[in-house]
Amino acid sequence: MPKPRKTPKVSTETTPRFAIAIMAAGKGTRLKSRHPKVLHQVGGKPMLAYVVAAASRVVPPGGIYAIIGHEAERVREADSSMGINFVLQAPQHGTGHALMVAREALAGYDHVIVLSGDVPLIWWQTIAKLRDFHLEQKAAMTILTAEVPDPQGYGRIVRRRAASAEVRAIVEEKKATAAERELREINSGIYVFAVKPLYHYIDRLSTDNPHKEYYLTDMAALLVKAGERVVATAAGDAHEVLGSNTRAELAALDVRLRAWKCSELMQQGVTIYYPHTCVIDMEVEIGADTVIEPYVQLLGRTRLGADCRVQSYSVISDAEIGDGVLIRPGCMIEASRIRSRAQLGPYTHLRPGCDLAEEVHMGNFVEAKKTRLGRGSKANHLTYLGDAVVGEKVNVGAGTITCNYDGQRKHQTIIEDGAFIGSDATLVAPVRIGKGAYVAAGSSITEDVPAGALGIARGRQANKEGWVKHRAEAGKKESS
Ligand code: UD1
Ligand code: CA
Repeated sequence: MPKPRKTPKVSTETTPRFAIAIMAAGKGTRLKSRHPKVLHQVGGKPMLAYVVAAASRVVPPGGIYAIIGHEAERVREADSSMGINFVLQAPQHGTGHALMVAREALAGYDHVIVLSGDVPLIWWQTIAKLRDFHLEQKAAMTILTAEVPDPQGYGRIVRRRAASAEVRAIVEEKKATAAERELREINSGIYVFAVKPLYHYIDRLSTDNPHKEYYLTDMAALLVKAGERVVATAAGDAHEVLGSNTRAELAALDVRLRAWKCSELMQQGVTIYYPHTCVIDMEVEIGADTVIEPYVQLLGRTRLGADCRVQSYSVISDAEIGDGVLIRPGCMIEASRIRSRAQLGPYTHLRPGCDLAEEVHMGNFVEAKKTRLGRGSKANHLTYLGDAVVGEKVNVGAGTITCNYDGQRKHQTIIEDGAFIGSDATLVAPVRIGKGAYVAAGSSITEDVPAGALGIARGRQANKEGWVKHRAEAGKKESS
């Protein structure tokens, strides 16, 4: 007898569709700033960039909706490359209103994770855990909370019973009773909502509060009243959910991020003396055995190789630096490339567009802009090189100036391999110093110097023999 075929189980459960909404429309009044709050930087990057990056690890960018309003175009522009969607909230009537305007955008999803553009330290793993907890709990609203020593300024979580996942309400500081203010469990501003109950009840929010705004936090009590399940779970690390309403809070986040960055780098084999004095942006990369001295700033997309040393008070942004490079104190380097074993400073200033080859030396008070120096070339003292192409093993004497600007246009100076520029030369561009040529000290060079020649362009010296004595005698005669 043929075995009866099992009727295949038809699963009615399909994978729930999740969207992420990032609230980023607020003005940030408390920062007293002309710039949008979520574009204020911590760790060298706008806050919103961190939130979008974390969100992108949990749902694909197409499922992410940034709610923008105040200075919307600037915010949109800053994040346009991330492939996320934008929903305009104008004017802004509060966090509850932010989700009201996203109703259409979120209609096709089962759940929405709500993040705040001004809570940037949130880890994507924490968001994923919150999503899972929400599904496990079959909740209409799940709130991410934290226990903090100083809950001032945050909404407080009122649980139904102690140690229960269920929440009765979120009370905002301004409306809290003295007893509620004592509660240490705060609302992080990060939630997961089941989309259906959210939009079924959201219109019941009122503006009955000191700011006359729709508070998303009121959804908790509203949903509970409607018989829906509202739960909360605490973040493992309370620091992840720190907000940034004031400049002081921004500074605290910045310090925290940079301390984390330093410890990451140290784990990778970088030596950092007094790390709390160094300002290192999140994107910076540094090779092993490089030493960073106190009071150094490494900014933007700077990449430093292995075995380098950056001495105190140097500020380096968007630079690409090879191995074994020595940067002495007080250098400023912007958007330039420095190859292995070069030495700079003290007090060298590289403006954007410089490219220094291996073993180049640049010393004190040397400024360069859009300038290339070939292998082993040196400009050790008091020099300006602008729009110059310098070959290999060239010696640029103290006080040399390329006169690259004629008042209207910039011109190029070319110094070929092995040339020797005497001290205090001015090279009036466009001009070329040929291979192995010499320029005499103090020359004003306005014409090309051919390879192997000596270019000399200065007043001839005349010595007046006995001049000092004659003058003294002439003086005596006059006074007698
Ligand atoms: C909010 C919570 C508070 C919580 C805290 C956590 C409310 C009413 N309160 O307070 O319980 O402890 O976050 O950090 O939600 N935004 C909009 N549109 C608006 C208003 C705000 O998109 O109309 C955005 C802001 O840009 C910001 C986020 O929502 O990114 C939070 O707004 P904010 O005004 O900073 O709320 P908090 O007072 O910090
Ligand atoms: Ca806030």
